Amino acid sequence: MKLDEFLRLNAPDDLAALTSAIAAASLGVWESVPFKSGLLSETNPSGETQKAIDVFSNDLFVDALTSTGLVAEVASEEMEEPVVSKGSVSVAMDPLDGSSNVETNNPLGSIFGFYTRKLPASGRALAGALYVTYGTMVTLTFSFGKGVHRFVAVRDGSAMSFQLLGVNLKIPEKPEVYGFGGARADWIPPVSAFWHSLEPRGLRNRYCGTFVGDYNQVLARGGIFSYPALTKKPRGKLRVLYECAPMAYINEQAGGYASDGSGNILDIEPAGLAETAPLYIGSAGLVRELEGSISSKQRAP
Ligand code: AHG
Ligand code: MN
Ligand code: MN
Repeated sequence: MKLDEFLRLNAPDDLAALTSAIAAASLGVWESVPFKSGLLSETNPSGETQKAIDVFSNDLFVDALTSTGLVAEVASEEMEEPVVSKGSVSVAMDPLDGSSNVETNNPLGSIFGFYTRKLPASGRALAGALYVTYGTMVTLTFSFGKGVHRFVAVRDGSAMSFQLLGVNLKIPEKPEVYGFGGARADWIPPVSAFWHSLEPRGLRNRYCGTFVGDYNQVLARGGIFSYPALTKKPRGKLRVLYECAPMAYINEQAGGYASDGSGNILDIEPAGLAETAPLYIGSAGLVRELEGSISSKQRAP
């Protein structure tokens, strides 16, 4: 089944249109990476040096989203202030996740949250979320509150289209893989102790340095991804609005759980657009175990 047909049957009209717009723009991002990342020089018709890939992706998605006429605002990790428009959906995005990994051709991603309230807003205001994975395949993984579904870009004559790859994806409760960001020496003690307990329990360390790529394998194999609280950065690195909440929404729809170490990521009411939170996301049992050990250590005198 093709993407537009599936969306017509399974998504609210506005989110269906926004998802189609993102899908088309994501192919533009994918095709532009070699030229916009400094790997190959490219100039526009007037001879100006092109933009870096983060800003290029940001502009491409802002244009694709605002031209639908359906978005009230587009807030982005790459912009100080949201772009305001005349629709009703508030979109928050990380237009390119993992961009420090472009030169090494590691997986990259794009993350979108579709909020029903003016931003900043908690994850409880999400009506849907989507992430793009730019890897061996370009895939869209999304949910509008009725399960997690996935499409993959395929050659379709002279163009590309998105074909159904899977519906109602569920994260395995039995954990197989784990990946923790930041420097191990900087982790808060309960995270360090938990991390050391995993390999003896048979889990395998799988970390590529891109949140979307690292989470995507946790969704498939079960386990945990974290960018944890650090002793010098207790609020971690990942942004609540653009990264943590949309991925926590999808993860919860797949049967998982995401925590900031004291409670559900989706309950955080971010005070600012770029507010960060420690993130522990994956199979519910494993994440709750770590949340419990962090909370007990933080309660201890
Ligand atoms: P972004 O490229 O959107 O800024 O995100 C990068 C993030 C995330 O993708 C990844 O988990 C984390 O940065 C890795 O951080 P370190 O390089 O500090 O490990
Ligand atoms: Mn990111
Ligand atoms: Mn980014």
